[in-house]
Amino acid sequence: MIDLRSDTVTKPTEEMRKAMFESEVGDDVYGDDPTVNKLEELGSEFFGKEASLFVPSGTFANQLAILTWTNPGNEIILGDSCHIFQHEAGAPGLISSVNTSQIPSSNGVLKVDEISKRVRSKDIHHPKTTLICTENAHSSGNVLTIEESKDIYEFAKSKNIPVHTDGARFINAAVSLGVETRDLAQYSDSINLCLSKGLCAPIGSLLIGEKDFIDKARFYRKILGGGMRQVGVIASAGIVALTKMSQRLYIDHENASYLGKELSKIDGVSVNFENLKINMIFYNIDNEIISDSDFHNKLHKQGVLINPTDNGSGRLVTHNGISREDIDTFVALVKDILSN
Ligand SMILES: Cc1ncc(COP(=O)(O)O)c(C=O)c1O
Repeated sequence: MIDLRSDTVTKPTEEMRKAMFESEVGDDVYGDDPTVNKLEELGSEFFGKEASLFVPSGTFANQLAILTWTNPGNEIILGDSCHIFQHEAGAPGLISSVNTSQIPSSNGVLKVDEISKRVRSKDIHHPKTTLICTENAHSSGNVLTIEESKDIYEFAKSKNIPVHTDGARFINAAVSLGVETRDLAQYSDSINLCLSKGLCAPIGSLLIGEKDFIDKARFYRKILGGGMRQVGVIASAGIVALTKMSQRLYIDHENASYLGKELSKIDGVSVNFENLKINMIFYNIDNEIISDSDFHNKLHKQGVLINPTDNGSGRLVTHNGISREDIDTFVALVKDILSN
């Protein structure tokens, strides 16, 4: 199958499987797992922070960050289209008992004047604002620039509010901007990095930040049941993800760009090039030519997996399992399907 649904479908590489087999392990709740310790050190170095913590998933890392930064009854500010608000099943209310204040933003850019309006003043009627959450790269395919990140961060500092960044694809963002990961990371107090998306590890995320924050998060990770034991077996794949697979993300970006260009040459298809900055292509098919379900089913029958389009709109994602030949095959199929 050619699977263009998401980069979460990537499978561990041969090198990862070998590293997993050979990994040295210990009880990580005692701090005894050398492989986890190595991954956490590498993570903090890579991001220019003091510490990091291995957790089971991106959702776990984001929710752990919120739980660690806030107290029950506080309010957090975030974009209305971000993963934390849209796709984490209402967890901030359930786990941290915080209120959310959403800024309308389809591409993840939060303007400082909008954030400023939402920071609560000290008043008996108001919850306290204790966190600002950004998402970079954003699930719309957009990337927050260094300047946009810096503006938000400097404003947050002026109000003494920390910034957590959902950086499920943070390294993709840095690669897209052509900057070092740590240069972008300096504008976040904590970051969730997913090892299991374009970086191909089977499981796991890192929550990255300064030592005091990570020490506190380690305690809350235990409360949430995320204290894992001989988890070096998985962290070993994370080390390959961080050190090796991060170096090839630019290939996914180039492939996405190529796929977007080739797709846009087909009658009945349009591509949103404005948000084609990482490994995601947002496109439209003309529903006058083909219905969403026919398009999806015909591709499926030919061995291509895509998420169903909605009123013609869809997203494709390139990753380690997608080659140039796969893209050419896919484009030829779409051309054929739309012209028959
Ligand atoms: C932007 C973003 N944040 C967080 C997550 C959550 O990651 P996980 O599926 O590992 O919980 C995802 C998952 O796709 C995501 O795209």
